[in-house]
Amino acid sequence: MAATRACLVALAMALTFLFLEGPAVVLVAPAATTDSLVQRRRDVQRLLRRLNKPPVASILSPDGDVIDCVHISKQPAFDHPLLKNHTIQMRPSYNPGGIYHDSNIAPHPITQTWHQNGKCPENTIPIQRTKEEDVHRASSIKRYGKKRPRSIPNLSSINDPEATNITRGHRHAVASTSVYKFHGTKATFNLWQPMIARANDFSLAQLWISGGSYSGNDLNTIEVGWQVYPQMYNDNNTRIFIYWTRDAYQTTGCYNLKCSGFIQTNNQITLDGSISPVSNYGGTQHDLDISVWKDPKGGNWWLQVGTNYVGYWPSSIFSYLANNASSVQWGGEVWSPDAGQTSTQMGSGHFPEEGFGKASYIKNIHVVDSFDNLEPLSDVQVIATQKNCYNAENGFSSDMGTYIYYGGAGKNSNCP
Ligand SMILES: *[C@@H]1O[C@H](CO)[C@@H](O)[C@H](O)[C@H]1NC(C)=O
Ligand SMILES: *[C@@H]1O[C@H](CO)[C@@H](O)[C@H](O)[C@H]1NC(C)=O
Ligand SMILES: *[C@@H]1O[C@H](CO)[C@@H](O)[C@H](O)[C@H]1NC(C)=O
Ligand SMILES: *[C@@H]1O[C@H](CO)[C@@H](O)[C@H](O)[C@H]1NC(C)=O
Ligand SMILES: *[C@@H]1O[C@H](CO)[C@@H](O)[C@H](O)[C@H]1NC(C)=O
Repeated sequence: MAATRACLVALAMALTFLFLEGPAVVLVAPAATTDSLVQRRRDVQRLLRRLNKPPVASILSPDGDVIDCVHISKQPAFDHPLLKNHTIQMRPSYNPGGIYHDSNIAPHPITQTWHQNGKCPENTIPIQRTKEEDVHRASSIKRYGKKRPRSIPNLSSINDPEATNITRGHRHAVASTSVYKFHGTKATFNLWQPMIARANDFSLAQLWISGGSYSGNDLNTIEVGWQVYPQMYNDNNTRIFIYWTRDAYQTTGCYNLKCSGFIQTNNQITLDGSISPVSNYGGTQHDLDISVWKDPKGGNWWLQVGTNYVGYWPSSIFSYLANNASSVQWGGEVWSPDAGQTSTQMGSGHFPEEGFGKASYIKNIHVVDSFDNLEPLSDVQVIATQKNCYNAENGFSSDMGTYIYYGGAGKNSNCP
């Protein structure tokens, strides 16, 4: 076992060498474009050097990912100009949920595919290595790791022509609340692997914590969930992701650790990493507890997945969210580039009315109020932008708390 691991580490190191110091690409191009190709290659290499910090060890995951164990003080967050002198906070000072707030049974540990081949040592964090071809699949080097389509579900803008442009191509089916000031949320997300019908589509389930607006270009968001996104990952695996922005997705923020901002403290969970097992239709259900809350001491927004503290978004990277959030949402989203209908699935690919074991749920939905108390969500609005394609329904029961079922199969005779 140890020998295997050493071998994998050696292999991964060799891969590093290829990615970072690879032989010059043979340019077969007309002279006029050679300069721009050389420039592009330089830009890609610069981006890879910025994202792929020198690892202490590396693990080759069975799904093809290379996981770099990077010293905690060398992570991308500390490239952020506002975080140069930041003192890392290893644990939150307060947790509104307690550790096992919602159940008497300890939640099952999270299994990510790469765990089969090793662990990252203490004082390191596991980061999925960005490969050159990952960057080439993105729309541009500059937009790598950022949301191309800017998106947030917005109840009041469904009929607003300007907002329709922003949300073009997006289908949302979510629960939403925006009645008071929020300091966080906690909910349990059912895990599925929706089928992606077209290469550039994605399907996700997530929470959005937000403040500010598109029109002021100052929308601040914190986002966490799972997604299937072949263009980003080159596979159809269900993967954990986070996102943030402070300027309505323009220049700030990114997925996971693909820019500086989020500070990770955990050595077991890889943002970007595949997660398994997922649920079966009519069979065993698997889910994941996700909580995000603002630590009253210092104001950082902490992320907990299952029982793991993953890390935090420092208060200083935000404007609105340096104080509190004005809206929290939970639900599913499908995106398809040409705004035409797609048969990409949302959730389990089945409509809400099929219920438990068949439709995807988000349950035990709570908000953290401005007094830092965890409260069950009481005032829910449901937004479904195309009910005949994907829908959402909310409800309450003693074993699921406040919940939604959401999802659908996309294109069908009622969703042309
Ligand atoms: C970091 O500390 C140095 C030296 O004290 C100071 O000059 C600089 O302004 C600080 N930077 C930030 C972002 O606080
Ligand atoms: C939602 O839409 C309304 C109307 O278009 C707009 O005024 C508001 O700023 C939007 N909310 C966000 C967060 O962009
Ligand atoms: C929406 O986008 C189309 C195509 O890009 C553009 O022609 C139109 O002016 C936009 N509408 C608004 C209200 O921004
Ligand atoms: C993802 O799933 C689609 C639809 O099942 C399939 O056509 C495609 O080849 C898969 N992509 C990858 C990278 O496995
Ligand atoms: C919430 O934010 C507002 C400003 O947006 C601020 O006045 C208020 O003190 C904040 N409340 C708390 C509890 O942080």
